[in-house]
Amino acid sequence: LRIDLIAAARPNFMKVAPLFHALCTQSWCRLRLVHTGQHYDRNMSEAFFRDLKLPSPDLNLGVGSGSHAEQTANVMLAYERACVDDRPNLIVVVGDVNATVACTLVGAKLCIPVAHLEAGLRSRDRRMPEEINRLVTDAVADILWTPSPDADENLAAEGIPPEKVTRVGNIMIDSYELMRERIDASGERSRLGLEKREYVVVTLHRPSNVDGPESLNSLISQLTGIAARLPLVFPVHPRTRKNLEAFGLWPKLIEAHDLQVIEPLGYVDFMNLVCGARLIITDSGGVQEETTYLGIPCLTLRATTERPITITEGTNRLVTAAELVPAVDEILAGHRPDGRKPQLWDGHAAARVMADIRNRLLTVPHSATE
Ligand code: UD1
Ligand code: UDP
Repeated sequence: LRIDLIAAARPNFMKVAPLFHALCTQSWCRLRLVHTGQHYDRNMSEAFFRDLKLPSPDLNLGVGSGSHAEQTANVMLAYERACVDDRPNLIVVVGDVNATVACTLVGAKLCIPVAHLEAGLRSRDRRMPEEINRLVTDAVADILWTPSPDADENLAAEGIPPEKVTRVGNIMIDSYELMRERIDASGERSRLGLEKREYVVVTLHRPSNVDGPESLNSLISQLTGIAARLPLVFPVHPRTRKNLEAFGLWPKLIEAHDLQVIEPLGYVDFMNLVCGARLIITDSGGVQEETTYLGIPCLTLRATTERPITITEGTNRLVTAAELVPAVDEILAGHRPDGRKPQLWDGHAAARVMADIRNRLLTVPHSATE
């Protein structure tokens, strides 16, 4: 069986890696690792291949940055050519980035089965570009691998036949468990002079927070206030950096006392910081899940989350910019959220995905895949 694994951007690499490692030892399948090239800086792409022990991609579509239409269309054009030249029997897409929907559409039109890993998540906010990607991908994909019961319910409510859906758990946790020893040994925390549980980690990159000068300025003001209570470390995403510079906010950020502004980190070093933090402030999807798994308080600067289980079972809380400082004070005063690890977030999601591919292969008529 020829399987394409699609990766495009930072959060994809830790979803693809465990599956790559599970499948690459299997004689019944041949993998093609496809990088669409959406993220291309060394510390947004190559660093993750190195950390997660992924080989160089078999194919890099080199689409780079652009508007949503440009990125989606360029992935479709390049990936369609790749599928016509060398047709896979199964396309595996992950997450909710533009390549997820683009490659799903290519597969659907060429009648190549598509499987979506991390299916069924919904924020119910269609202004979020990822929500459109999730809805379209799940509507046309053939196999839907979900991380949690809420995802199964969302798919059922949209009329997706249950036989398309298998709950496999959270693949990001597989990457953490695979890398756990190296994460503990990374030394990033001490390199930055931070004491365990005595600092805050911040990540921000959602357009709703960082694309407007007012919202970004207000967030930076809140963060400088928090840094006066507890040292803060902020690996800055390239979208955010570009906007901080364009809005003239960069000096305000780097001059703030006890606020270390650093380049985006590789997975191992970043997770070393997360593991030792007192709390995390973020708008990332993946970081909400990692903090739930690790039991670390997480304040998410968003109005909605497509990962509600991180609130109902985990350590996550949604906050506005105005609620941020009081929420930090509560945590510093000792009010820690009571969290537990959601079911099937156990480091074995890739094994369940692999078992599901084998089970389904017996039922997929070969003529439909060739
Ligand atoms: C993308 C995903 C988002 C995901 C995020 C993870 C979509 C719609 N968005 O958002 O879901 O949460 O990745 O980090 O797919 N840039 C660089 N170097 C890079 C990559 C980007 O400088 O290697 C800059 C460019 O100026 C680019 C901007 O960042 O225009 C935004 O990049 P883009 O990939 O379009 O969106 P993200 O905000 O990264
Ligand atoms: N991450 C990282 N280095 C950083 C920031 C984040 O390795 O400097 C990891 C983080 O552990 C998580 C993933 O990147 O696994 C999340 O990616 P991101 O926040 O960019 O995207 P999202 O999950 O919001 O789509």
